[in-house]
Amino acid sequence: MYLYHFGIKELPFTLTPNTSYYFALPSHKEALNVLMTALKTGEGFIKVTGEVGTGKTLICRKLLNELPDNFVTAYIPNPYLSPAELRRAVAGELGVQLTDGADQQEFTQRIQQQVIALHQQQKAVVLIIDEAQALPVESIEALRLMTNLETESRKLLQVVLFGQPELDDKLGLPELRQLKQRITFSYTLKLMDSHQVHQYVQHRMRVAGYRGQDLFSPAVCKVLFAASRGTPRVVNVLCHKCLMLAFGEGKSGVDRKHVAMAIKDTEAAHSVASSHWQRLLIAGLVLLSAGALYLAYARYGA
Ligand SMILES: Nc1ncnc2c1ncn2[C@@H]1O[C@H](COP(=O)(O)OP(=O)(O)O)[C@@H](O)[C@H]1O
Ligand SMILES: [Mg+2]
Repeated sequence: MYLYHFGIKELPFTLTPNTSYYFALPSHKEALNVLMTALKTGEGFIKVTGEVGTGKTLICRKLLNELPDNFVTAYIPNPYLSPAELRRAVAGELGVQLTDGADQQEFTQRIQQQVIALHQQQKAVVLIIDEAQALPVESIEALRLMTNLETESRKLLQVVLFGQPELDDKLGLPELRQLKQRITFSYTLKLMDSHQVHQYVQHRMRVAGYRGQDLFSPAVCKVLFAASRGTPRVVNVLCHKCLMLAFGEGKSGVDRKHVAMAIKDTEAAHSVASSHWQRLLIAGLVLLSAGALYLAYARYGA
């Protein structure tokens, strides 16, 4: 591939949420701050939402890495689980054995013992759920029951929900209003602006070992921004394709033609060319009508 051509040690734009590539975008930093603060104050439910590809799983992994040692974490990456499956998954993560066919009551007892034992060792338990929009409604209710355990000052089991905006629709259902009221901290991830796309791309190139001149110019990054609307995953897809195209032509930098081809080849990218032509057309129409008004005024207005 193009590693040798550009003098880099690994592919800079893979789609895996690898924390060594983390770039502290303001919105991501803020999300982590909100999470840390909320978890340290012992709040019950915390929610982080964001569109597909905005960095939720990456933030999830950063959080798992950065939580201090006094937090015990249970991580559920794929929560399309029935209440019984969810209870089993949580028990497994916390090292608790359940009998076959354990119900909510047995689960609550066993988990309670474990969480209290951990609490006595000054440890707090955090359940982190990614893709939470996939949780069935009954499982969300089972989650609420899990967090009923509390001391006078704090919850013994805290839950962080990461999800796509559909999670909010689900939480808006009347049968989930009790849980909705328990969400005391929430944060919505923002998309990057054009300047941040440029910094983001440079950052990933540097982490991959690139030391040369800017491969993606600010002008190229503007087009990347327009086509991706600032979504990191789409930027990654486009940049990878741009590098392949530049390499294919033996070029040392990425130009607008490469970006245009990458956009054309990417379903998730928005066509920039058409919106550019639309803008030109609108500008032309505005100029024409201004000219017509001026002529009409010159002729009849005086
Ligand atoms: N702040 C960031 N720094 C570096 N890479 C990021 C950042 N945010 C997102 N990405 C990258 O964008 C891609 C999509 O992120 P991901 O966490 O999988 O999104 P989501 O879970 O919201 O769909 C991944 O390759 C991830 O590494
Ligand atoms: Mg994800």
